[in-house]
Amino acid sequence: MTSSMTSSMTSSPTRPDAPLGSGDTDESATYAVALERSAVLDALIDQHAAGSDGNSTEGAARFRMLTGDRPTGPLHIGHYLASLRNRVRLQDKGVETFVVIADYQVITDRDSVGEMGANVQGLVLDYLAAGLDPDRTTIFTHSAVPALNQLMLPFLSLVTDAELRRNPTVKDELALSYGRPLSGLLLTYPVHQAADILFCHSRIVPVGRDQLPHLEQTRAIARRFNQRYAAGHSVFAEPEALLSEVPLLLGTDGTKMSKSKGNVVNLRDTADETAARVRAARTDSERRITFDPKDRPAVANLLTIAGLFLDEAPESVADRVGDGGAQALKRVVTDAVNESLAGHRARRSDLARDPAYLTSVLHEGNARANAVAERTLATVRAVMGMSY
Ligand code: TRP
Repeated sequence: MTSSMTSSMTSSPTRPDAPLGSGDTDESATYAVALERSAVLDALIDQHAAGSDGNSTEGAARFRMLTGDRPTGPLHIGHYLASLRNRVRLQDKGVETFVVIADYQVITDRDSVGEMGANVQGLVLDYLAAGLDPDRTTIFTHSAVPALNQLMLPFLSLVTDAELRRNPTVKDELALSYGRPLSGLLLTYPVHQAADILFCHSRIVPVGRDQLPHLEQTRAIARRFNQRYAAGHSVFAEPEALLSEVPLLLGTDGTKMSKSKGNVVNLRDTADETAARVRAARTDSERRITFDPKDRPAVANLLTIAGLFLDEAPESVADRVGDGGAQALKRVVTDAVNESLAGHRARRSDLARDPAYLTSVLHEGNARANAVAERTLATVRAVMGMSY
């Protein structure tokens, strides 16, 4: 199984019906291969961007990308550093970008939909403030695209329950879902995510390391669809992972960033709220600041965050702080965050004054996503002999 997983990551031929690797697959080997391939993809995007005028459908647009977020609450600096900035970078290189606001996905691991409308609006605000351009990038809500959701039916026929049950992302989400039993929606989460990716024929999916098994499931669905329902013709190309270069960032208490733990700085926070949150961050009592992720993880995390905002190595941030201790370190982090986000926050507040504009961005994005999804569904029905 290891070989089927690894070889499919490198796009060499794989048996279309080969089962996906189980949990004991060599995850780090898969990761290494995906990392190498991501570097190649980045180089290809650059190469095509260089030759494209931004309007042509050639060039980087052939690397169509889909990514997205669940509207469960405000985005924080971890989202910004690890994904939002990168989306804007790719968009600006001419990569045709789709961003799904995965509203149905909110109820995979919780019973309540929460403040859905406000959360969706908050995401749109951060996307636009960060520089996603609605003329070039399609921002849409999952629930507003019925044809996308219909792809779930044939796709579900292509996966087994055993495969879904051993998907590490499903297992992790189940473990974190407050003791809820495994719902059908959580179990089939990799399949609806596959529909998100495949409906628009996305070739690139920016992901973190933990999401690789998901993408592998999507690739298997694409392969099996072509084999089983399209006589081997390529209706769906296998998308590839573009791994984030940003290391895993921790919250201000040194544990995983999480809204519910109150250990994050949100993009929408004020400069003062940011300062207060950073001031409360965990550090240690050693006066000299050094970058030592193993023995001083909380300090290293703050240095990493400052370094990412300042585009500077964390070791060099540590050198600058030197014997200034935790207080000086926190001042550097606060200034780095607040100065880097000042423009974002100002644009965000301006945009928030125009809710009608935000609604129009979503309506436009939903219309475009619907047109694409209907075309894909028509093809699927045609190859399955269901055009009546
Ligand atoms: N699962 C992602 C999250 O939790 C959101 C998402 C939905 C997504 N569909 C996607 C990401 C497809 C990448 C590709 O934030």
